[in-house]
Amino acid sequence: MSWRSVLLLPMLIRNDRRAPRDERVAWDRYWAGVRRTGAGGDVLWDGASARELAWVLDTARRCFDRTLPLVDIGCGNGRYTRALAEVASTALGIDVSQNAIAHAWRESEGRVRVAYRTLDVTAPEVGASLARELGDANAFVRGVLHVLDDARRLSLVENLRALLGSRGTVLLVETVFRGSKLDYIEFLGAGGIHIPAPLRRLIEAGLQPPSHFGRAELDRFFPVDRWERLESGPAVLDAVATRADAPLTAIPGFYAVLRPR
Ligand SMILES: C[S@@+](CC[C@H](N)C(=O)[O-])C[C@H]1O[C@@H](n2cnc3c(N)ncnc32)[C@H](O)[C@@H]1O
Repeated sequence: MSWRSVLLLPMLIRNDRRAPRDERVAWDRYWAGVRRTGAGGDVLWDGASARELAWVLDTARRCFDRTLPLVDIGCGNGRYTRALAEVASTALGIDVSQNAIAHAWRESEGRVRVAYRTLDVTAPEVGASLARELGDANAFVRGVLHVLDDARRLSLVENLRALLGSRGTVLLVETVFRGSKLDYIEFLGAGGIHIPAPLRRLIEAGLQPPSHFGRAELDRFFPVDRWERLESGPAVLDAVATRADAPLTAIPGFYAVLRPR
């Protein structure tokens, strides 16, 4: 551990003590404080990068049955929900945070075929209930599995299975930064007593640095005997700038395109 990280520890410990017990409460607290989204905004992972949006759309065009509806799981402010409506009959963004969903609606004014709903994607029967409403659907998951613990990951996977049915496909894009949580926040530009504002907001809301979701986690949570793998490999998530010398922060990621067997 570097001396720069050591200086961050007291602040991290203080915020950890104040953090809500339930991460879902912390997520809503976080979104309540967001004023500006997109490049240069408050939301760390929302770099609004044309490169990443184009890559997601290309992958969806290649792999999805575009006549199906799309559900964006843990949609945040809905940037990808809106984009993916282009390759779907309708697009529904769902997020556990009511405040995130309020941002998503505001940013989608005038859009047709796009809707949002406050929902916990790890709650029992959510997938089956959405499937009854929408029929088989495609799904998009970006940066959600990496923030969930194992029990919630399993619930999300079961909900996905029910939602996709026999025709749906899911595209997952998750981070795979290797190193400790402190290494990660240093990678994101923190050091000494300086913490970039988009990162500070997350810590102050009581959210923990994420874990990672790469090939080993894919094998564990989406075993090949239950999930067909259409594609998988390295990806990059473009976050907002957290250092003065770059317009975006490129976070190492992993993607997979899957169908239930
Ligand atoms: C790292 S953000 C990614 C947001 C969005 N997918 C994107 O890439 O812009 C994780 C999102 O997952 C949401 N989330 C966390 N736990 C959730 C749960 N149990 N159900 C639904 N959404 C959840 C958070 O509120 C947050 O918006």
